[in-house]
Amino acid sequence: IRFIKMEIVKEISKMKEISKFWKRQGYKIAFVPTMGFLHGAHLALVKKAKELGDKTVVSIFVNPLQFGPKEDFREYPRDLERDLALLEKEKVDAVFIPETEEMYPPDFQTYVEVTKLTTGLCGAFRPGHFKGVTTVVLKLFNIINPDIAIFGEKDYQQLQVIKQMIKDLNLDIEIVAHPTVREKDGLAMSSRNIYLSSAERESAISLYKALLLAQKLVKEGEKDSQKIKEEMEKFIYSFPFTKVQYIEFVDPQTLDPIDKINKPVLCALAVYVGKARLIDNMLITP
Ligand code: PAF
Repeated sequence: IRFIKMEIVKEISKMKEISKFWKRQGYKIAFVPTMGFLHGAHLALVKKAKELGDKTVVSIFVNPLQFGPKEDFREYPRDLERDLALLEKEKVDAVFIPETEEMYPPDFQTYVEVTKLTTGLCGAFRPGHFKGVTTVVLKLFNIINPDIAIFGEKDYQQLQVIKQMIKDLNLDIEIVAHPTVREKDGLAMSSRNIYLSSAERESAISLYKALLLAQKLVKEGEKDSQKIKEEMEKFIYSFPFTKVQYIEFVDPQTLDPIDKINKPVLCALAVYVGKARLIDNMLITP
């Protein structure tokens, strides 16, 4: 039995070499980009990648470009040793963990921006966020040269933005969406859940429950998204520590707002629970 160990790669040049070598051998590379502090949802994406590709690459890079000046870049949870142990267990072939200076040398000055899809939802409250995401993801795609890349549906807008970038820039990468992975009580898994105190953790369930409430109201025949939003907001504020940033009903492809619900819509929301900004979404069919 040949034991093949997981490659831990810090340099862009080395990562390119490895992926070029794999491509020459005809291997299909499946890629999972992450910011680390891995949880069950990341591991579900990795399992999907293992299923779809011959070689699996995971990147761990907390991308400063996608954090606003008042956001949690410094506090963002990190535990590389634990992450590497988890990925080794999943038999990942390579982990790419570049330093910030490797990705963004001092003379860095090129950005990629998807313009329209990024204006609403999280984009309205996090200026520059998606520009940071698309820029780093395109760099990672160029370095790793994957055939397939897996993204979670919890970050639904991010997924749509990446798909648009792929289409607009003619990249030959298949984007695979993975359903949101939830804790037993329904809370969407997120690295940011670590910010929640145990009392706040109880309030964090309000996002998922509010989405279920929206689904119930739509099933009962309510079509007015404004009325549903008001009900959801009232419901969320019945939990302590909550502050709603937005609740929106949008077209699942264009992300344009929808007032009258006559076809499947995406309901997306962002809520602060204490200092943790949580997001969630659900496809709702009348
Ligand atoms: O979803 C994330 O964790 C990040 O936005 C990503 C895609 C790894 C880019 O930094």
